Amino acid sequence: MSSPILVTCGLPYANGACHLGHLRTYVPADIFVRGLKKLNKEVLFVCGSDAHGTPIVVNAEAQGMTPKALVTRYHQHFDEVFKGMGINFDLFGDTDDAACHNRTQEMVKALMDGGHVYPREIELAYCPKCERFLPDRYVEGECPYCGKPARGDECDMGCGRHLEPGEIKNAVCKVCGGKAQYRKQVHYFFKLSEFKDFLLDYLPTLGGTTSARNYAIEWVRQELKDWCITRNMAWGVKFPGHDDLVVYVWVDAPIGYVAFTEEWCASHGRDWKDYWKDGAKIIHFIGGDIVYHHCIFWPAMLKGAGYTLPSAVVASGMLKIDDKKFSKSRGNVIWVKEDYLERGLHPDLLRYYLASYTAHNKEVNFSWKIFADKVNTELVGAFGNFINRGLTFTVKNFQGRVPAGEIDRDVMAKIEETMNDVVSGLEEYEFKKAADAVMSLADYGNIYFQSHEPWKLVKTDMVAAGAVLKSCLQISKALALLMEPVMPSKMQNAWKQLGFKDAVADRPFSEAINPIAEGSLLGTPEILFTRMEDAAIKELDRIFADRMKEAEAKEKSGVKGAEKKGEISFEEFSSLDIRIGQIKEAGAIKGSKKLLKLQVDIGGEIRQVVAGIAEAYPTEELVGTQVVVLVNLKPAKLFGIESQAMLLAADRAGKAVLLQPRVAVEIGTKVR
Ligand code: 2FM
Ligand code: ZN
Repeated sequence: MSSPILVTCGLPYANGACHLGHLRTYVPADIFVRGLKKLNKEVLFVCGSDAHGTPIVVNAEAQGMTPKALVTRYHQHFDEVFKGMGINFDLFGDTDDAACHNRTQEMVKALMDGGHVYPREIELAYCPKCERFLPDRYVEGECPYCGKPARGDECDMGCGRHLEPGEIKNAVCKVCGGKAQYRKQVHYFFKLSEFKDFLLDYLPTLGGTTSARNYAIEWVRQELKDWCITRNMAWGVKFPGHDDLVVYVWVDAPIGYVAFTEEWCASHGRDWKDYWKDGAKIIHFIGGDIVYHHCIFWPAMLKGAGYTLPSAVVASGMLKIDDKKFSKSRGNVIWVKEDYLERGLHPDLLRYYLASYTAHNKEVNFSWKIFADKVNTELVGAFGNFINRGLTFTVKNFQGRVPAGEIDRDVMAKIEETMNDVVSGLEEYEFKKAADAVMSLADYGNIYFQSHEPWKLVKTDMVAAGAVLKSCLQISKALALLMEPVMPSKMQNAWKQLGFKDAVADRPFSEAINPIAEGSLLGTPEILFTRMEDAAIKELDRIFADRMKEAEAKEKSGVKGAEKKGEISFEEFSSLDIRIGQIKEAGAIKGSKKLLKLQVDIGGEIRQVVAGIAEAYPTEELVGTQVVVLVNLKPAKLFGIESQAMLLAADRAGKAVLLQPRVAVEIGTKVR
């Protein structure tokens, strides 16, 4: 065995559910690791939840829970989804683990001892009403570079720049909406600017996707600003010697890679220093949006603290859905658990889609239609069909055993060529090349079977028929071995059908050119892939379209927060007919998870109301409830159903809370 390899994946924020965009990084990384194992490499594969940072604290506050509880919830979710998708990390940690706190403090101290960290007084946004400094996501305002609305640490609606603490203009507190002041405070900076020469030497040697490396070199050539690495927060890793400060989340997040290695080594009798001090091969798989952090900030930190530098950064392209930019707020999102795994769709189909759609650094477009086409044409029509034909034919005509005879030399040559393409595809981080090569072997197999006509040969020449089928079985064996990294569970099934009792994941690629043993007993042939029917695709498309519609409706109804509106007169207020009503009936609306159809008594008259309260209240709890109803709102259609009034509600953590009279009053009573 050669020196150990460490593969990591960018850490998902434990702040929301896993969506298809996430998998664009994790699936190829898992394919890569499985491929390395099949090349007999010693490889460790770690990842974990990114537990810190202001978005998590802000979100936890909004949901009335502690950051720890929120992180635990999403940590478990990601762990479960990754396992469900066959993504097999050796360790899936959490940056709030003790190991990560300790390693971060150790590394930051090493940077301080090395003179790479210095204090500087800066002006920071401060909310006088909440009496707190406003780090990162706690503050909103204008980008100092392009003037667009921006968040404290990022101009995500404008020029996309990272913003340093204090840079944002016209700051407003995100918690109370009040105008923030700027106050002076001492913070700590990492002297990134000093690493310019080092980075210009190092980056050209960095492996991985070329575009990541080239972007990074360009950024370093332009300007390297020192990074403020402390924040005024309680949640996070304490900055050494300052209990009122934590380190910036982008300090402890990548240190998680080291900490997770330590955790795994501790439980496997290994020394983490073999990976992080003694020059192992470290390969980071990341999303294309965090290249700066991994190619610039992280290597500089590692260099300054005396750790092994990454040998490759592999950055994936982004994901579009139906050719539209992925956006959670616009409903343009596919949730891996809810929309895919829980619908009984097989993980390997999606793994194959993600691997084979396009080059790793390019944008992937996902649509259910293309998904179904790929499944039906490539997996059912070509791949599964070939394996099934060879097997059923042999089982039927040769008593379920591998026939005698020589395997066709051309077949062996094609298998060898495929194997080489798979290996070079993996080495070049071109997973499409690897998947396509195996698929073309399946096509070759189908042509071979068709042109050699074993169904005729069995009637005239059993020896020749046996040789053809043996060659086909050899191709099937190679297909299972070479495709295992992409579709591990389906290929295990194929392996079993071929009569093997062990795990295909444990067999090296080179086994593909090892002739299948004559006389060995085959398993029972079964269908490997099933067709996706039009009705199923339509249903999936509808769920997605409804989500987009609901998001649009939500946007229109302005669930944006408490922006100030102009004053109105009492007469204007009086023009609103608001009454106490009582819910008489409540039922679901087909296709909508959020809306309910209600019949509401508003005092001698029943109105039909469509209300977005399905996620907040079980229907059976609603009947009999008194509610506050705006009666003279113009009727509108939602999901094709007329809504003839509106229930008044407030919003709590994205869920509706119905307004109610404090004590029961007569139905129809006017609100004034
Ligand atoms: O961008 C993100 O989703 C971050 N949570 C990635 C962190 S990767 C690493 F540095 F830990
Ligand atoms: Zn405030």
